[in-house]
Amino acid sequence: MSAPDLDTTASHQQPTLIWDLPTRLFHWALVASFALAWLTSDSDEWLAVHVFCGYLMLGLIGFRLVWGFVGSHFARFASFRFSPQQGIQYLKDVASVSAARFVGHNPTGSLAIYILLALSLAVGAAGILTLGAEEQHGLAAGWFSFAQGDLFKEVHEVAATLMLLVVGGHIAGVVVESVLHKENLARSMVNGLKQAAPNTPKSKARAGVAVVMLLAMLGFGGWWFDYAIQRQLDTPAQQQAHRAGEHHTRHVPFVGPTLADNAQWREECGSCHGVFHPSLLPARSWQKMMAEQDRHFGDDLGLDATTTASVLAFLVTNTAEGHPTEAAYKLDQSIPRNAAPQRITEVAYWIRKHRDIAAADWANPLVKAKSNCAACHPDADLGTYEDGAMQIPKRPTL
Ligand code: HEC
Ligand code: HEC
Repeated sequence: MSAPDLDTTASHQQPTLIWDLPTRLFHWALVASFALAWLTSDSDEWLAVHVFCGYLMLGLIGFRLVWGFVGSHFARFASFRFSPQQGIQYLKDVASVSAARFVGHNPTGSLAIYILLALSLAVGAAGILTLGAEEQHGLAAGWFSFAQGDLFKEVHEVAATLMLLVVGGHIAGVVVESVLHKENLARSMVNGLKQAAPNTPKSKARAGVAVVMLLAMLGFGGWWFDYAIQRQLDTPAQQQAHRAGEHHTRHVPFVGPTLADNAQWREECGSCHGVFHPSLLPARSWQKMMAEQDRHFGDDLGLDATTTASVLAFLVTNTAEGHPTEAAYKLDQSIPRNAAPQRITEVAYWIRKHRDIAAADWANPLVKAKSNCAACHPDADLGTYEDGAMQIPKRPTL
């Protein structure tokens, strides 16, 4: 910390550029992406936006780490290299209304910045691991199991909550400082200006860097929402419909790897109802069902021994125990080891996920039966059951 950073002379102050443009752009883009990520964290419906915000945050943090060395004076880590002790001491000074005014970051603010940088990295990294495990998607797709995903999600959520608390502290600090030293700190992060003595180190606006940042963010957003997401829509027809703005769901499905398929299974098991993908039940359920194929929910499937054996072979090699999807993992987890349920709709996880659906929605002629999965899950035929793809059909108007 050089002497001019610590403002002791109240006289001869003039509006001076303290925060360069890239620092300000970084700050507000981080605020926006954190807020949006928080708002879209509740349901997988907005997962595509949520994940976009996460990558954006990581990119911004990456930029800030570099800018901390090559940015203008007050953006450099060297200008706010305070120890945790100094950070806490400053907090005490504030409490006794004797805190000195800093033109750049004060010791407590610096501490908040370092903690926020570290937490952002932790949230982002845990987010990538969660996405890889729970959706089998993104950079870490296929690295971990769904069970491990539960742990990453826990870390992701705890780190994000801590981050929100530090953000709260940071905002409180800004308010207190603004009152204490009669200056609007939030506004100075917008226009970059603060009152400072003439010998204060000069910051340059660095507009060129800010323009490159802005273009990079816009370019990434354009790529993400056009190319990367388009690519995940199931069929070319759906992609076309999506482009034309008439995709039958307003959600963007977050689809992992394509699941196993089999023509004979489709032919024998998809004629009376839509196919139920083998990953929706454990092997023991399919074995029992095929052993009793002559008494299939009141129907005799009339399959010969060879057909029965080969359909069963496909079923038991792609069961819920293999955890190819989040749905398969959760269904498997909720079935007692000694049970061999014949209905997916009687599995505890299924019941839990569907108990809030209104009777009027079940009665909708477009739905009718619980087992009519495709009525609400456009990806039922593929077996992925992404919650982001689910959409209950509109009730008919009377
Ligand atoms: C002849 C018609 C017919 C064929 C062919 C058929 N099913 Fe079914 N299946 C039914 C009926 C009827 C039900 C009960 C539907 C209901 O209650 O909504 C049913 C229900 C099911 C269910 C339970 C759905 C739930 O409620 O969770 C599963 C699983 C199932 N069938 C699997 C299969 C498999 C596997 C095959 C191929 C080997 C097959 N079905 C072929 C008629 C058929
Ligand atoms: C009337 C509409 C409707 C029908 C029919 C329906 N579902 Fe669902 N399903 C939903 C809703 C609503 C949810 C909850 C989504 C959420 O929690 O975000 C859901 C959630 C799920 C989930 C959890 C997804 C996840 O990963 O969290 C699975 C798996 C699932 N359904 C499977 C099925 C299967 C299999 C069938 C057919 C046997 C079926 N559903 C029939 C509406 C329906």
